[in-house]
Amino acid sequence: MCPPRFFTVDYAINPWMDPERPVDTDRAMAQWTALRDLYLSLGHTVDVVEPQPGLPDMVFAANSATVLDGRVLGARFRARQRAAEAEHFRRWFVENGYRDVTMPRRINEAEGDFAWTGSLLLAGTGFRTDREAHAEAQETLGAAVVSLRLVDPRYYHLDTALFVLTEATETVPASVVYYPDAFSAGSRRVLERLFPGAVLAEEADAACFGCNGVSDGRNVVLPVEATGLAERLAAEGYVPHFVDISELRKAGGGPKCCTMEIRK
Ligand code: ARG
Repeated sequence: MCPPRFFTVDYAINPWMDPERPVDTDRAMAQWTALRDLYLSLGHTVDVVEPQPGLPDMVFAANSATVLDGRVLGARFRARQRAAEAEHFRRWFVENGYRDVTMPRRINEAEGDFAWTGSLLLAGTGFRTDREAHAEAQETLGAAVVSLRLVDPRYYHLDTALFVLTEATETVPASVVYYPDAFSAGSRRVLERLFPGAVLAEEADAACFGCNGVSDGRNVVLPVEATGLAERLAAEGYVPHFVDISELRKAGGGPKCCTMEIRK
């Protein structure tokens, strides 16, 4: 994770961002701190990358690498305003003992557009990550990639429209939450085939970034507004935990965007 010490919205690269609307950086810091503390209280380890002045979106750590079996595939951002973030994260991995670090050649916004199901790497395209980056990720990470096309600019990254609740095991398929309207017709059919038991988010849950949840297979971290989704997940035996992300959402981010999951 990366604290939003230099968080602002002074450019607009997705429909949520409005540079005219004021942002409270202290409040963003408090919201981020509450998210980090929640992970710690749930028994997870949190590594922190130093934020950099002039990189206000660096708080969205999920966009800067995809890590599987200790192999790190870095990022290459579409927007020039975010380009420099990738190198700060690359350096962090190298300095922290990760020996297999590859930087992509194609536009690749990392976990913003890649979701590991335990057996497959779901990969979004349409707004940010290049389709060709999917093949690159398959080759670098050695994981079978399933490409999915996003069609609604409000859901510009895969992680704004889908998250994995429980990873697949040898015997049990993965469980996922997704918002069908964010995907092309063909990609919706792919998702139906792969995840017939998926929890389908409704518009209200998607619009508050409810599909940007983080699950450890039991605890599910959601924006406080995603009450409908939380109830449905609770009925399936999950434990919802709410966080207030109102400031971070002004940049088009939620809990998952702030969280890069390191799979060693
Ligand atoms: N302002 C950032 C951007 O548009 C938000 C990124 C949110 N991250 C995410 N994983 N969806 O790039």
